[in-house]
Amino acid sequence: MLQVNDIHTYYGESHALQGVSIELKAGETVCLLGRNGAGKSTTLKSIVGWTPARRGQILFNGKDITRLAPYQIARQGIGLVPEDRRVFASLTVKENLEVARYIRPGVQPKWSVERILDEYPMLAELANRDAGNLSGGQQQMLAVARSLMCEPELLLLDEPNEGLAPVIVKQIGALIDALRDTTTILFTDQSVHFALQHAERAYILEKGRVVHSATSQDLKDDVETHQRYLSVA
Ligand SMILES: Nc1ncnc2c1ncn2[C@@H]1O[C@H](COP(=O)(O)OP(=O)(O)OP(=O)(O)O)[C@@H](O)[C@H]1O
Ligand SMILES: [Mg+2]
Repeated sequence: MLQVNDIHTYYGESHALQGVSIELKAGETVCLLGRNGAGKSTTLKSIVGWTPARRGQILFNGKDITRLAPYQIARQGIGLVPEDRRVFASLTVKENLEVARYIRPGVQPKWSVERILDEYPMLAELANRDAGNLSGGQQQMLAVARSLMCEPELLLLDEPNEGLAPVIVKQIGALIDALRDTTTILFTDQSVHFALQHAERAYILEKGRVVHSATSQDLKDDVETHQRYLSVA
Protein backbone atom coordinates (compact mmCIF):
# COMPACT_ATOMS: atom_id res chain seq x y z
CA MET A 1 0.00 0.00 0.00
CA LEU A 2 2.77 2.44 0.96
CA GLN A 3 6.26 2.37 -0.48
CA VAL A 4 8.77 4.95 0.66
CA ASN A 5 11.83 4.54 -1.53
CA ASP A 6 15.10 6.10 -0.44
CA ILE A 7 13.74 9.54 0.41
CA HIS A 8 15.93 12.52 1.30
CA THR A 9 14.32 15.45 3.10
CA TYR A 10 15.95 18.75 4.06
CA TYR A 11 15.24 21.67 6.37
CA GLY A 12 17.05 24.39 4.43
CA GLU A 13 20.54 22.96 4.03
CA SER A 14 20.10 20.51 6.91
CA HIS A 15 19.87 16.95 5.56
CA ALA A 16 17.26 15.45 7.93
CA LEU A 17 16.34 12.23 6.09
CA GLN A 18 19.28 10.58 4.39
CA GLY A 19 17.71 7.78 2.43
CA VAL A 20 14.70 6.37 4.29
CA SER A 21 12.92 3.33 2.82
CA ILE A 22 9.88 1.76 4.44
CA GLU A 23 7.01 -0.34 3.20
CA LEU A 24 3.54 -1.10 4.53
CA LYS A 25 1.10 -3.69 3.29
CA ALA A 26 -2.63 -3.03 3.56
CA GLY A 27 -3.87 -3.98 7.00
CA GLU A 28 -0.51 -3.79 8.77
CA THR A 29 0.26 -1.82 11.91
CA VAL A 30 3.87 -0.69 11.95
CA CYS A 31 5.89 1.47 14.34
CA LEU A 32 8.71 3.87 13.53
CA LEU A 33 11.07 3.93 16.48
CA GLY A 34 14.03 6.14 17.30
CA ARG A 35 15.38 8.68 19.73
CA ASN A 36 14.86 12.45 19.71
CA GLY A 37 15.77 13.91 16.36
CA ALA A 38 16.08 10.53 14.60
CA GLY A 39 13.71 11.60 11.82
CA LYS A 40 10.41 9.97 12.79
CA SER A 41 8.27 13.09 12.46
CA THR A 42 10.07 14.15 9.30
CA THR A 43 9.31 10.77 7.73
CA LEU A 44 5.58 11.15 8.44
CA LYS A 45 5.60 14.79 7.31
CA SER A 46 7.36 13.79 4.11
CA ILE A 47 4.71 11.17 3.36
CA VAL A 48 1.91 13.75 3.66
CA GLY A 49 3.80 16.46 1.81
CA TRP A 50 4.38 18.93 4.67
CA THR A 51 8.15 18.58 4.24
CA PRO A 52 8.33 17.14 0.72
CA ALA A 53 11.18 14.76 -0.05
CA ARG A 54 13.78 16.35 -2.29
CA ARG A 55 14.94 12.98 -3.61
CA GLY A 56 13.44 9.49 -3.66
CA GLN A 57 9.91 8.39 -4.28
CA ILE A 58 6.73 7.72 -2.31
CA LEU A 59 4.08 5.43 -3.79
CA PHE A 60 0.61 5.00 -2.31
CA ASN A 61 -1.52 2.24 -3.82
CA GLY A 62 0.91 2.28 -6.73
CA LYS A 63 0.50 6.00 -7.40
CA ASP A 64 3.44 8.40 -7.14
CA ILE A 65 2.49 10.98 -4.48
CA THR A 66 5.99 12.40 -3.89
CA ARG A 67 5.27 15.75 -5.49
CA LEU A 68 1.61 16.17 -4.64
CA ALA A 69 0.39 18.99 -2.39
CA PRO A 70 -0.66 18.05 1.16
CA TYR A 71 -4.39 18.42 0.44
CA GLN A 72 -4.05 16.16 -2.62
CA ILE A 73 -2.26 13.52 -0.55
CA ALA A 74 -4.96 13.71 2.12
CA ARG A 75 -7.51 13.11 -0.61
CA GLN A 76 -5.71 9.94 -1.65
CA GLY A 77 -6.68 8.58 1.78
CA ILE A 78 -3.72 9.31 4.06
CA GLY A 79 -4.42 10.99 7.41
CA LEU A 80 -1.81 12.39 9.77
CA VAL A 81 -2.27 13.14 13.46
CA PRO A 82 0.73 15.38 14.15
CA GLU A 83 2.72 15.47 17.36
CA ASP A 84 1.11 18.74 18.50
CA ARG A 85 -2.42 17.46 17.66
CA ARG A 86 -3.72 20.82 16.37
CA VAL A 87 -7.31 20.56 17.46
CA PHE A 88 -9.30 23.76 16.99
CA ALA A 89 -9.26 25.17 20.51
CA SER A 90 -12.28 27.46 20.14
CA LEU A 91 -14.51 24.84 18.53
CA THR A 92 -16.34 22.18 20.50
CA VAL A 93 -15.43 18.52 20.24
CA LYS A 94 -18.40 17.91 17.98
CA GLU A 95 -17.56 20.90 15.77
CA ASN A 96 -13.96 19.68 15.46
CA LEU A 97 -15.33 16.43 14.06
CA GLU A 98 -17.84 18.15 11.77
CA VAL A 99 -15.38 20.54 10.12
CA ALA A 100 -12.97 17.71 9.37
CA ARG A 101 -15.51 15.79 7.30
CA TYR A 102 -14.28 14.84 3.86
CA ILE A 103 -15.38 11.80 1.89
CA ARG A 104 -13.32 10.87 -1.12
CA PRO A 105 -15.33 10.32 -4.28
CA GLY A 106 -16.17 6.66 -4.71
CA VAL A 107 -15.51 5.79 -1.06
CA GLN A 108 -18.18 4.13 1.03
CA PRO A 109 -18.16 6.18 4.26
CA LYS A 110 -17.52 4.20 7.44
CA TRP A 111 -17.45 7.06 9.91
CA SER A 112 -19.82 9.82 10.97
CA VAL A 113 -19.93 12.16 13.95
CA GLU A 114 -22.69 9.97 15.39
CA ARG A 115 -20.68 6.78 15.03
CA ILE A 116 -17.59 8.32 16.59
CA LEU A 117 -19.55 9.62 19.59
CA ASP A 118 -21.18 6.23 19.84
CA GLU A 119 -17.92 4.27 19.78
CA TYR A 120 -15.96 6.66 21.97
CA PRO A 121 -18.17 7.51 24.97
CA MET A 122 -15.34 9.56 26.40
CA LEU A 123 -15.71 11.97 23.48
CA ALA A 124 -19.51 11.85 23.66
CA GLU A 125 -19.35 13.14 27.22
CA LEU A 126 -17.20 16.04 26.04
CA ALA A 127 -19.12 16.71 22.82
CA ASN A 128 -20.11 20.28 23.66
CA ARG A 129 -16.89 21.28 25.39
CA ASP A 130 -14.39 23.58 23.70
CA ALA A 131 -11.42 21.49 22.57
CA GLY A 132 -9.06 24.06 24.11
CA ASN A 133 -10.33 23.05 27.56
CA LEU A 134 -9.57 19.34 27.17
CA SER A 135 -6.65 17.55 28.78
CA GLY A 136 -3.75 16.42 26.61
CA GLY A 137 -5.09 12.87 26.52
CA GLN A 138 -8.59 13.99 25.58
CA GLN A 139 -7.16 16.16 22.82
CA GLN A 140 -5.19 13.21 21.52
CA MET A 141 -8.34 11.06 21.40
CA LEU A 142 -10.12 13.88 19.58
CA ALA A 143 -7.25 14.35 17.13
CA VAL A 144 -7.32 10.65 16.20
CA ALA A 145 -11.12 10.61 15.95
CA ARG A 146 -11.06 13.75 13.83
CA SER A 147 -8.63 12.16 11.37
CA LEU A 148 -11.19 9.37 10.84
CA MET A 149 -13.65 11.94 9.47
CA CYS A 150 -11.61 11.91 6.24
CA GLU A 151 -12.07 8.13 5.94
CA PRO A 152 -8.32 7.40 5.80
CA GLU A 153 -7.03 4.15 4.38
CA LEU A 154 -3.68 4.83 5.97
CA LEU A 155 -3.42 6.56 9.33
CA LEU A 156 -0.15 8.15 10.48
CA LEU A 157 0.12 8.89 14.20
CA ASP A 158 3.09 10.90 15.44
CA GLU A 159 4.01 9.97 19.03
CA PRO A 160 0.42 9.44 20.12
CA ASN A 161 1.58 8.86 23.72
CA GLU A 162 3.85 11.81 24.19
CA GLY A 163 3.44 13.42 27.58
CA LEU A 164 0.37 11.40 28.50
CA ALA A 165 -0.38 9.64 31.78
CA PRO A 166 -0.20 5.81 31.78
CA VAL A 167 -3.96 5.44 32.10
CA ILE A 168 -4.47 7.54 28.94
CA VAL A 169 -1.70 5.67 27.12
CA LYS A 170 -3.75 2.51 27.72
CA GLN A 171 -6.79 4.14 26.12
CA ILE A 172 -4.77 5.28 23.12
CA GLY A 173 -3.47 1.73 22.81
CA ALA A 174 -7.01 0.38 22.88
CA LEU A 175 -8.03 2.91 20.25
CA ILE A 176 -5.19 1.83 17.96
CA ASP A 177 -6.09 -1.83 18.50
CA ALA A 178 -9.72 -1.12 17.58
CA LEU A 179 -8.69 0.68 14.39
CA ARG A 180 -6.21 -2.01 13.35
CA ASP A 181 -9.00 -4.19 11.95
CA THR A 182 -10.10 -1.64 9.38
CA THR A 183 -7.20 0.77 8.87
CA THR A 184 -3.53 0.50 8.02
CA ILE A 185 -1.52 2.33 10.67
CA LEU A 186 2.00 3.74 10.92
CA PHE A 187 2.81 5.32 14.28
CA THR A 188 5.95 6.63 15.92
CA ASP A 189 7.33 6.21 19.40
CA GLN A 190 10.60 6.76 21.23
CA SER A 191 10.64 3.60 23.27
CA VAL A 192 9.86 0.06 22.43
CA HIS A 193 7.22 -1.00 24.97
CA PHE A 194 4.10 0.45 23.38
CA ALA A 195 5.28 -0.59 19.91
CA LEU A 196 5.71 -4.20 20.97
CA GLN A 197 2.15 -4.27 22.27
CA HIS A 198 0.40 -2.55 19.40
CA ALA A 199 2.42 -3.06 16.20
CA GLU A 200 3.33 -6.16 14.24
CA ARG A 201 6.75 -4.86 13.32
CA ALA A 202 8.96 -1.82 13.58
CA TYR A 203 11.61 0.19 11.82
CA ILE A 204 14.29 1.90 13.87
CA LEU A 205 15.60 5.25 12.68
CA GLU A 206 18.83 6.91 13.67
CA LYS A 207 20.22 10.14 12.27
CA GLY A 208 17.81 10.14 9.34
CA ARG A 209 18.43 6.54 8.31
CA VAL A 210 16.68 3.22 8.88
CA VAL A 211 19.18 1.23 10.92
CA HIS A 212 17.06 -1.78 11.85
CA SER A 213 13.83 -3.48 10.88
CA ALA A 214 12.27 -6.33 12.84
CA THR A 215 9.06 -7.96 13.93
CA SER A 216 7.85 -7.05 17.41
CA GLN A 217 8.50 -10.63 18.41
CA ASP A 218 12.16 -10.40 17.42
CA LEU A 219 12.63 -6.98 19.00
CA LYS A 220 11.28 -8.29 22.26
CA ASP A 221 14.21 -10.65 22.60
CA ASP A 222 16.82 -8.27 21.23
CA VAL A 223 17.91 -6.20 24.21
CA GLU A 224 21.10 -5.10 22.49
CA THR A 225 19.14 -3.31 19.75
CA HIS A 226 16.99 -1.51 22.33
CA GLN A 227 20.02 -0.22 24.11
CA ARG A 228 21.84 0.86 21.03
CA TYR A 229 19.09 2.77 19.24
CA LEU A 230 16.26 3.53 21.63
CA SER A 231 15.36 5.45 24.73
CA VAL A 232 15.33 3.33 27.84
CA ALA A 233 12.02 4.79 29.04
N1 LIG B 1 11.53 22.67 11.54
C1 LIG B 1 12.80 22.23 11.54
N2 LIG B 1 13.82 23.00 11.14
C2 LIG B 1 15.08 22.54 11.13
N3 LIG B 1 15.45 21.31 11.51
C3 LIG B 1 14.48 20.48 11.92
C4 LIG B 1 13.10 20.90 11.97
N4 LIG B 1 12.36 19.86 12.42
C5 LIG B 1 13.23 18.86 12.64
N5 LIG B 1 14.49 19.23 12.36
C6 LIG B 1 15.70 18.37 12.44
O1 LIG B 1 15.51 17.23 11.64
C7 LIG B 1 16.00 16.06 12.31
C8 LIG B 1 14.87 15.04 12.44
O2 LIG B 1 13.88 15.60 13.30
P1 LIG B 1 12.48 14.90 13.59
O3 LIG B 1 11.61 15.92 14.21
O4 LIG B 1 12.01 14.24 12.36
O5 LIG B 1 12.90 13.79 14.64
P2 LIG B 1 11.99 12.86 15.54
O6 LIG B 1 12.54 11.49 15.40
O7 LIG B 1 10.56 13.08 15.23
O8 LIG B 1 12.32 13.38 17.02
P3 LIG B 1 11.37 13.54 18.31
O9 LIG B 1 11.36 12.20 18.96
O10 LIG B 1 12.08 14.56 19.13
O11 LIG B 1 10.03 13.98 17.85
C9 LIG B 1 16.59 16.53 13.65
O12 LIG B 1 17.97 16.71 13.47
C10 LIG B 1 15.90 17.85 13.86
O13 LIG B 1 16.71 18.71 14.62
MG1 LIG C 1 8.98 13.78 16.30
